[in-house]
Amino acid sequence: MPYLLALDQGTTSSRTVLYDSDGRVIASAQKEFPQYYPQPGWVEHDAEEIWASQEATLREVLGRCGVPLSEIAGVGISNQRETTIVWERDTGRPLSRAIVWQDRRTAERTEAMKGAGEERGIREKTGLLLDPYFSATKLAWLLESVDGLRERGARGEVCFGTVDSWLIYRLSGGRVHVTDVSNASRTLLFNIHTLQWDPELLARFGIPAAMLPEVLPCAASFARCALPGLEGLVVTGVAGDQQAALFGQGCFAAGMAKATYGTGAFIVMNSGKEPVLGEGVLTTIGWQLGNEVCYALEGSVFIAGAALQWLRDGLGILASSAEAEALARSVPDNGGVYFVPALTGLGTPYWDPFARGVIAGLTRGSGRGHLVRAALEAIAYQTCDAIEAMERAGNIPVQALRVDGGAAANDLLLQFQADLLGVPVLRPALTETTSLGAALLAGIGAGVFDLAELRSRSTPERRFEPTGDPSRRDQLRAGWRRAVSLALGWEKP
Ligand code: G3P
Repeated sequence: MPYLLALDQGTTSSRTVLYDSDGRVIASAQKEFPQYYPQPGWVEHDAEEIWASQEATLREVLGRCGVPLSEIAGVGISNQRETTIVWERDTGRPLSRAIVWQDRRTAERTEAMKGAGEERGIREKTGLLLDPYFSATKLAWLLESVDGLRERGARGEVCFGTVDSWLIYRLSGGRVHVTDVSNASRTLLFNIHTLQWDPELLARFGIPAAMLPEVLPCAASFARCALPGLEGLVVTGVAGDQQAALFGQGCFAAGMAKATYGTGAFIVMNSGKEPVLGEGVLTTIGWQLGNEVCYALEGSVFIAGAALQWLRDGLGILASSAEAEALARSVPDNGGVYFVPALTGLGTPYWDPFARGVIAGLTRGSGRGHLVRAALEAIAYQTCDAIEAMERAGNIPVQALRVDGGAAANDLLLQFQADLLGVPVLRPALTETTSLGAALLAGIGAGVFDLAELRSRSTPERRFEPTGDPSRRDQLRAGWRRAVSLALGWEKP
């Protein structure tokens, strides 16, 4: 039986999962790596530490599983997106710390570009908005800040890549500099209609074309592994982690949507074969198989589970994230308390890098149960805002929401989410959908199965049906909107 290996490189940890071709987990390993916050609003990674943690989990899984390399048909990669890395082409040496997707250091630049009326044209080509979230202004910042980088970049001596490119470069022993369309579509440099880097956008952001990776569809022969002892492995599938989760959740038809509740929450809807643009949501590439492109709409929520981490680490009112559900259940409702976790600005549908966190509605009777409940409910409110914006944009009602990620284990959250949305929330038995998506893409790239075969697979799931009174829902959402209005623009200079 052929096996498939998935490398899932996330914001806080690297994972490797070995699957059999029916999508069953055979072995997995995970390793965290350090986060760096050199200034308020800045978030960095060390690209060497990303690589070392990924390689360690890869070797651990292969060492433990007893499956010979010859039976591994393909390797899939799913990765944190937008995070920007530059390295020396000859040596593979990173030339700065990686600037992470959460980093807000270019907020004033994107604001100035918006003020100069540049957003519309960029949006039409890329489907994205002018926000520090995406790679282009991060790379422009590096080109201005690292000595000699621009000149060396123009001479082709330096590679730019998102994390997928970086991992492939290292796996291939420095021979291959590529990316896939889904990751490229998060850079603000890629034209999602022509499926190419856009020369006009490169000029606008001052990016030398010689630094860019070649762009391939999501299932293809990306690279052969050249690491000692791992020769023979071939990377055959790549997608950004949120697109990989959309694929892993089986959202193969237009209108199907998933939400991944992790540090942030990413809500992605398959919008069909043509890109559609809409107010406040991103248009992005879900995946490309052969010549066929599946476009997607995305709502990006920067802080979801991270709000609970902040209650734990910042305020110390929660012993562990696992305790959150019990504490939230210790109160009958939010007691009028709303927590807008705009700790790194707000994404969909507000796109305000200057928003800051707000806790509103406190009384003498408010306790930590209410705060924890408000943090959990904030995940659902933000998801609901994103879905609403997507439905407006795509003109397709979402019939059900598939969920995964750490907080998808929380029944209280999923029931509240279903109640707010008024549609069922579905949780698959296997919530490893990101790495599964990467493995499935790798399986297609390696010729193990095709999309038609995947469509016919069904996965067991638990359904959370909407309950409760719609007028209560409206009342809750009105409270949330009032609290959001306090958070918006808080830090604007
Ligand atoms: O766009 C950022 C996203 O890809 C990060 O995902 O799972 O690493 O938090 P995650």
